[in-house]
Amino acid sequence: MLRTHTCGELNLANLGETVTLCGWVQKSRDLGGTTFIDVRDRYGLTQLVLNEDTSSVIREKGRTLGREFVVKVTGTVLERTNKNLKMPTGEIEIAVNDIEIINASKIPPFMIEDETDGGEELRAKYRYLDLRRNPIRNNLMLRHKMAQEVRKYLDALNFIEVETPVLIKSTPEGARDFVVPSRMNPGEFYALPQSPQTFKQLLMVSGFDRYFQIVKCFRDEDLRADRQPEFTQIDCELAFIEQEDILNIFEGLTRHLFRTVKGIELNEFPRMQYADAMRLYGSDKPDRRFGMEFVELNGIMQGKGFSVFDNAELIVGINAKGCAEYTRKQLDELTEWLKRPQIGATGLIYCRYQADGTLKSSVDKFYGEDDLTNLAAAFNAEPGDLILILAGHSQKVRKQMNELRLEMGTRLGLRDKNTFAPLWVLDFPLLEWDEESGRYHAMHHPFTSPKPEDIAMLDTEPGEVRANAYDLVINGTEIGGGSIRIHDRGLQSLMFKHLGFSAEEAQKQFGFLMDAFEYGAPPHGGIAFGFDRLCSIFAGLDSIRDVIAFPKNNSGRDVMIDTPSTISEAQMNELKINTTV
Ligand code: AMO
Repeated sequence: MLRTHTCGELNLANLGETVTLCGWVQKSRDLGGTTFIDVRDRYGLTQLVLNEDTSSVIREKGRTLGREFVVKVTGTVLERTNKNLKMPTGEIEIAVNDIEIINASKIPPFMIEDETDGGEELRAKYRYLDLRRNPIRNNLMLRHKMAQEVRKYLDALNFIEVETPVLIKSTPEGARDFVVPSRMNPGEFYALPQSPQTFKQLLMVSGFDRYFQIVKCFRDEDLRADRQPEFTQIDCELAFIEQEDILNIFEGLTRHLFRTVKGIELNEFPRMQYADAMRLYGSDKPDRRFGMEFVELNGIMQGKGFSVFDNAELIVGINAKGCAEYTRKQLDELTEWLKRPQIGATGLIYCRYQADGTLKSSVDKFYGEDDLTNLAAAFNAEPGDLILILAGHSQKVRKQMNELRLEMGTRLGLRDKNTFAPLWVLDFPLLEWDEESGRYHAMHHPFTSPKPEDIAMLDTEPGEVRANAYDLVINGTEIGGGSIRIHDRGLQSLMFKHLGFSAEEAQKQFGFLMDAFEYGAPPHGGIAFGFDRLCSIFAGLDSIRDVIAFPKNNSGRDVMIDTPSTISEAQMNELKINTTV
């Protein structure tokens, strides 16, 4: 090995030892007679000192070192006079005997420091330099530790890690597929898996019983802070189980990770019906770090002559505790925020519960003191509170109020990154109406089983049928989702029929799975966690990008390797991709 120690381990116990370190020059300070140089590797920083005791050749060499040069240094461990107790090596320094410049470096385009001056685009282009910074490296070390703990936990429960193929045929998880042309089969394409869903079900038919895989998935969809075109799932499937078993095992996994990686002991996870989540929070992934539940107000506010409320399908409010002091200007600004096209509210009604106990609303013209007292009572409001109300089409208003609730939660400091509020959301609808195509889509995926007691409604009220499907939500982020599957050919065909597939189409696309169900398919179910999202919650980040070594930007580009990119005419011809059409 080129070195005797790393840059993060030497201390007073090593005094007098001759050591050799390798690393990158973090910075160097030339104080005339003495030069201090910090060398860095992934383990830490060590200070080198060159002074009148150092040979003049080496001192000269020391002066030529620039930031990010790679060096090999030999010297003696000395006690520092000026100690820095904040760093593990802060009590020692190395009196240098020899320096070898292994490789010079150009001046880096941004500072390799915890707080860097580099913008996002620049750091993405030089991601390999960004990865030298402590915060990013720590995120990846956290990710590594989490992957190890996932494997430990699942292995102890008899799960088998199996790799499934990457060149497959479309899996219908609701996004678009990335496709790969086949040279050997001109005009034909593979699809990259949106998830290993059908393969893990086939493994259950094969008797594997408990499968998992930490696996890359690919989805061609619009990108956001918590979405990447390629991302990683902890994908799991089990046979001979019921929903309750899955919830317990994967609540166990989540708690194991919090315990071993963050030293946090979580209580039992609360559970909530999808319908209640929508009613109380307007979202299937409520952030439960804070309350501020919705209160529906049709009964109290309708029939008093205020047409906006009288004509509304739903009137809903939240109580922003302690915000009665909001000025007119602040309320106007909040209203404008709600009216932006991304949210699309038409207006905001408010009622202040003033410190002196009186109630003052923006619709006092229509509502008397009794009405406002009833309103305040519906929220258990107290002096100092501010009630915020939206009205209109139910679905839209719930969505808008969800945004407002989250915004108020943020403004009131109720969304602390070090507080973790997990939640199981259960009993999702099986189907979801899609306006664009004018038909129902599977809300989770077409292999999810309906609740047996709801199957009869498939023909009459398909939108009301509930699924044996569940999501794990932490702090308002969907961390995982899964379901109990259909394992019967007849029911699977019926599902495809309800999703608008002809029998031929269903057979062509999913015949392999339905055929497999005829050879002894066990009852089975599973779940997949978004591993990047889980890591980013653990790291306290807003985006999943910094728990991914080489992520794509918001346009799906990797600006470092500059892809997607064109391919040569020869490659196109070989793949028989006709560019002239
Ligand atoms: P689902 O589509 O809910 O289920 O995906 C599971 C989890 O994967 C994460 N996720 C993503 N993370 C980052 N970027 C993306 N583009 C992205 N899309 C999804 C989310 C999500 O909860 N086969 C089923 C699982 C099953 O039924 O067992 C599936 O893929 O955290």
